[in-house]
Amino acid sequence: MPEFVRACCASEIPDPGKAVFEIDDHFVVVFHVCGQFYALEDCCTHDGGELGQGRLEGFQIICPRHGARFDIRNGKVLAMPATTDTPSHEVKVEQGEVFVRIRE
Ligand code: FES
Repeated sequence: MPEFVRACCASEIPDPGKAVFEIDDHFVVVFHVCGQFYALEDCCTHDGGELGQGRLEGFQIICPRHGARFDIRNGKVLAMPATTDTPSHEVKVEQGEVFVRIRE
């Protein structure tokens, strides 16, 4: 099983906000919303749009390419044209540092 990898200091991502990191050969978007951190693969399941470039609306990220929506808390697809969930990854915060573990 992959290990947790440090992404950044918690203070580096505003609330609400997001940032993209490369972790274990994955591009991962880390979100900070309402005091919690979440992580999704930085790839829309419709056609590979970079979700980290999308607009954040509450707990939804909107793909910048064709407007699909995903729930940042679990990667569930919420709006077409995507029809498949995007992978979500495990996040923990320890001593002000954000760590991500890739879910394979
Ligand atoms: S690539 Fe994301 S909606 Fe098309």
